[in-house]
Amino acid sequence: MDHFIYHNGTLHAEDVPVTEIAAAVGTPFYLYSTATLSRHFRLFDEALEGMDHLVCYAMKAASNQAILKTLASLGAGMDVVSGGEYLRAQAAGVPGERIVFSGVGKTHEEMRLALAGGIRQFNVESEPEMEALSAIATQMGKVAPIAIRVNPDVDARTHAKIATGKSENKFGIPISRAREVYALAAGLPGLDVVGIDVHIGSQLTDLEPFRLAYAKVAELTESLRADGHDIRRLDLGGGLGIPYTRSNEAPPLPTDYGAMIRETLGHLGCEIEIEPGRLIVGNAGILVSRVIYVKSGEDRDFLILDSAMNDLIRPAMYDAHHDIIPVEEPAPGNDGRIYDVVGPVCESGDTFARGRQMPELNAGDLVAFRSAGAYGAVMASEYNSRPLIPEVLVHERQFAVIRARPTFDEMIKRDTIPEWL
Ligand code: LLP
Repeated sequence: MDHFIYHNGTLHAEDVPVTEIAAAVGTPFYLYSTATLSRHFRLFDEALEGMDHLVCYAMKAASNQAILKTLASLGAGMDVVSGGEYLRAQAAGVPGERIVFSGVGKTHEEMRLALAGGIRQFNVESEPEMEALSAIATQMGKVAPIAIRVNPDVDARTHAKIATGKSENKFGIPISRAREVYALAAGLPGLDVVGIDVHIGSQLTDLEPFRLAYAKVAELTESLRADGHDIRRLDLGGGLGIPYTRSNEAPPLPTDYGAMIRETLGHLGCEIEIEPGRLIVGNAGILVSRVIYVKSGEDRDFLILDSAMNDLIRPAMYDAHHDIIPVEEPAPGNDGRIYDVVGPVCESGDTFARGRQMPELNAGDLVAFRSAGAYGAVMASEYNSRPLIPEVLVHERQFAVIRARPTFDEMIKRDTIPEWL
C-alpha cells in the first residue's frame, strides 16, 4: 500500500497534487511520501515485536538525509556500505551505535573512519579484511565488534545481478568454512565477535530461500556456541521483494517474514538485525516526468519523455518493469494505445518499456513511474551531461525539495582544465 492515489482526477502524493509539485519544481523529479516510508518501516518493526531487534535500513536504496532522518526518528538503524554512506548517516543524526557497516571491500580508511566515529558492528566478508580490521583497531586502541558474513550457497531465485548467496558470488565466506574462520577471528586482537551475518539477494518474492539460509544460520549458531563463541546477534540482511506491477505479484509481507524468522531463529535468544532497503522505500517513491514528443515510428509509437536511463537505470540494467501512469487520471476506456516509452539519451538501451499498453498521451502530459523510490535516485548519473534530478518529500499537505536540481553551470564548473590547455 502506498500514498500515491488519484483524487478528483489528479494523482496526489498524500494530500498534494503531483501537478502542483511539478509546476513548482519542474520535471523530471523523484517524489517520496513520508506516510509510506513510515508505514513500511513500522511493518518490519512490528513484525519482529517480542524479539530483541533492530531494523537497519539499507540506505543504498535511497540515501537522502531527509529520508534517513524520517526513518531514524522512528527508531531505525542504518546499514551502510561505504565511508560516504557512513558519513551521510551520521550527518542525518544517526549515532554510530545504530550503524552496521557491510560490504565486501571496505578500505582501511573506511575502517578508521567508522572506528573513530563509533560503530555497532562491521559485517566482515573475508579473512584478509578481518586481519586488516584487527590491525587497525589495535593501532587505534579500539575494539571492533564484528559479525562474519557467511555465504550459505542458497539460490535466492531472483535476477542474477542481484543474487548474492550462491557460492559463485563474491560475497561472504563459504558457510562450510565458517568454524575455521570464527576460530581465526577469536584469536585476533582488537576484534569482538558478536554474531553472524547473512544476505542472499534482493527482490526475493518467495520466503523459501530465506528459510533455507536462516536454518543454516541457526545450525551454525549452535556449532559456534559449542566451539565457545558468544554468538549473541544475527544480522539477516535485506532482500524482501515488492510488487512492481499492480496486478499479478503478491510477494510475502513483512509479517510473514517476521513469523518465519521467529520460527527458524527465535529459540536461539539472539538479538535480530535486518537490513531491508527496497521494501521500505521502493513503493514510497515515484519518478515524475513529462512527455516531450509522441513520435510515430514505422510499426510503433514512441513516447519520448524528459527522463532517461541516467535518471532511472533499472529498466536498462535489469530489464526491470515499472508501471508508468498518467498524472491526470485517464477517462474510463482510454487505454487504447501501445507505446515504446523512451528517454532522450543517445542509445537504444534508453528504453523504459516496450510495447506497453497505456492510455493515449500527448506532448506536455505528466507521467509517474511507480515503485521508483528504491535504487532510483541513488543510481542516477549525469550521462549525456544531464544534471541529477531533484528529490522532493511530501508530508501530508506539505512538500519540500530535499535535493535541489543543480544548474548547468554548477555541473559544468566541476571540471577543471589543466594548465597546459
Ligand atoms: N544488505 C546488504 C548486504 C545488501 O547488499 C543489500 C542490497 C541490502 C541489505 C538491501 O536489500 P533490499 O532489501 O533493498 O533488497 N540495484 C538493485 C538492487 C541491488 C541490491 C544490493 N544489495 C536493483 O535496483 O534492483
